[in-house]
Amino acid sequence: MYAEVRASETPAAELAAAKGIIISGGPSSVYDAESPTVDPAIFSLGIPVLGICYGQQLMAHLLGGEVRPGQKGEYGLAMLDLADTGDPLFGGLGGTQQVWMSHRDVVGRAPLGFSVTGRTDTCEIAAIADPKRGFYAVQFHLEVVHTPRGKEYLANFAFRVCGCVPDWDPRNRLPMLEQEIRECVGDRSVFFFVSGGVDSSVAFALCTRALGVERVRGVYVDTGLMREGETDFVRRIGNLTVEHAEDQFLTALAGVTDPETKRHIIGEEFVRVQERIIESRHLMNENWILGQGTIYPDTIESGGTTKAALIKTHHNRVAGIQKLIACGRIVEPLKSFYKDEVREVGRELGLSSELLDRHPFPGPGLAIRCLCSEFDAPVRATAEGLIVPVHSVGVQGDSRTYAPVLAIDALDHTRATELINAIAGVNRVIAPVETAAPTFEMQVRACSLTEERLRRLRRADVIVRRLSHASGYDHQVWQFPVILIPLGTQNAPDSVVLRPVDSVDGMTAQSVLMDAELRRAICAEVLQIDGVAGVFYDLTHKPPGTIEWE
Ligand code: XMP
Repeated sequence: MYAEVRASETPAAELAAAKGIIISGGPSSVYDAESPTVDPAIFSLGIPVLGICYGQQLMAHLLGGEVRPGQKGEYGLAMLDLADTGDPLFGGLGGTQQVWMSHRDVVGRAPLGFSVTGRTDTCEIAAIADPKRGFYAVQFHLEVVHTPRGKEYLANFAFRVCGCVPDWDPRNRLPMLEQEIRECVGDRSVFFFVSGGVDSSVAFALCTRALGVERVRGVYVDTGLMREGETDFVRRIGNLTVEHAEDQFLTALAGVTDPETKRHIIGEEFVRVQERIIESRHLMNENWILGQGTIYPDTIESGGTTKAALIKTHHNRVAGIQKLIACGRIVEPLKSFYKDEVREVGRELGLSSELLDRHPFPGPGLAIRCLCSEFDAPVRATAEGLIVPVHSVGVQGDSRTYAPVLAIDALDHTRATELINAIAGVNRVIAPVETAAPTFEMQVRACSLTEERLRRLRRADVIVRRLSHASGYDHQVWQFPVILIPLGTQNAPDSVVLRPVDSVDGMTAQSVLMDAELRRAICAEVLQIDGVAGVFYDLTHKPPGTIEWE
């Protein structure tokens, strides 16, 4: 059915024609002065309301219940006990089931009129219902794929509670998108910086179809941060040229260790390259506009929607690009789509599955898979495991964190999830697969992005890709980043982290294992790389860890 995302403060009067309202999650606490709220009059419209996570807390708060800080946070997988109720939302879904949690505050007392229908070990009030008024709320995130029955809850809300009918046909999207492109571009032409990834390639193809091949130009910038063989792959897309800018990027990044600074530099250098190309090809005049393959998660995670927290700055949302957006010289046809939808659009356009089924690869490239450090520091032993003093980005309760990593000794996801919930100040858990020296003898050393380290990472990455493709494993996972971290020994200063994840849209992800034979084959080759002391496995789901390490 048709749905819109609206700002939380939208006046109730503007929502009066809706068949139902969903209040989303968010990182705030209802008691914070600046925390987002909704117009309380929406509860008097006679329209069903479903609150998710912060949405549940906000409903409890505004309708006379009580919200309080939880004893400890609950991030990642949890088991929900849902009562067998006969109400239209929860009816038929009762029982014990996996859900995805990401919260610290909890509802302490449900408002009058509500009954408590679900709980987890950590959260006494995980689902509440007031069927008379059509009000429902859940503490877990039913909108993410790691709540396997989440879609059933949403379908129950839309169809049973709100009385919607499934009449929104996705096949209508292509002509609509093409029309939007034509309206946005007007009589100008579009100039694309194609990355070789699914998003920019689909956006490029879409614009070509909407405007014709003569009005769309593509260029691929070799930043020196790409994977082995990438430039040749991209050349095969056709209708584009390659711009070499390896030295420019590596010079600008020399000595930089801070993840956000790295991202900003890459974004700014991109804009510089863009400006240079636009100038040298005389594209400055008003006949041209820039096309981009930005997708919805990029927008959300850069704080691009009003209330979404800034999780990190994506390179296509840095200041230079924002200026182009402000003066209307940009077209981003996929900006409201998730990755799975982009692939669907690509298939409708007839693009090859070799291109469409590629794992996503981030715009800033290997730069955000090559962790840097501003200091030398030893690994520190604790009761739970070894603390590896690198700063890796994570997302807890929707806010961004930079925290050290915990190394445990077994490839045990359950233990990793328990530890991450229990230990404040750690947002990732890894385990060694094979190392040349014991982890406790290793140390982190100060380093930045150098050609030598990028070469090391590129070699590890190409080995992993070759072996996982040969074994068919690449088709079983959604993405398989290979990360270089500055953890090692005197002679071999770095280690490689394997980060295969399962996901649908990149917004949440589950760390997944691989069989021992593939692990052994990868280690045997990766440990041959000069300067690599060990191979580790990332056991962290998202949340609390992002997919990339930064
Ligand atoms: P995270 O690390 O936020 O990644 O869990 C979610 C998905 O987004 C990709 N990613 C990026 N893609 N530009 C991109 O085009 C970026 O700056 C960027 N950062 C992360 C990441 O590879 C994963 O698929």
